[in-house]
Amino acid sequence: MEENSVPFTGCIQGGLHEGKTITVTGRVLPNAKRFHVNLQCGSKEKPDVALHFNPRYDESKHHVACNTMLSSKWGPEERKYYIPMTQEERFTLLFLVNRDTYSVIVNGAHFMEYLHRMSITQVDTIFVSGDVEIESIAFSNSAGLLKQPANQAVVM
Ligand code: GAL
Repeated sequence: MEENSVPFTGCIQGGLHEGKTITVTGRVLPNAKRFHVNLQCGSKEKPDVALHFNPRYDESKHHVACNTMLSSKWGPEERKYYIPMTQEERFTLLFLVNRDTYSVIVNGAHFMEYLHRMSITQVDTIFVSGDVEIESIAFSNSAGLLKQPANQAVVM
């Protein structure tokens, strides 16, 4: 993957299942207004989006909005009025797939749980867009790490 190539669309190798992690490292641009990371179904226009993770620095109260898009319609937003990634700084954003939720972990600290609103089995694509640079996106299956330490792929 070419560095800084945003918007970025990538295939989630092996799809999603419990214990899978997706780790995005990158840097928020100086004076960033917004960016988002979607875990979604394919890459057509207006795909279903299981998790839209959207830091917003352009609102008077900075926040992260998370949501799900089904049949081109957003559901209710879940907001946190704190953005754990700072403009101009590098970050590590990790999504852990659980049975009922996605855990979102930023720079090693737990940020939020997002309850599944659609089946994880349909999610096969990661999409990143907005005022951000991506350095790497890596996938791993934490449930399988002990048994299959080599079963960890990194796409760059
Ligand atoms: C809208 C915004 C979209 C998306 C959505 C999530 O207001 O235009 O980009 O973030 O909220 O609820």
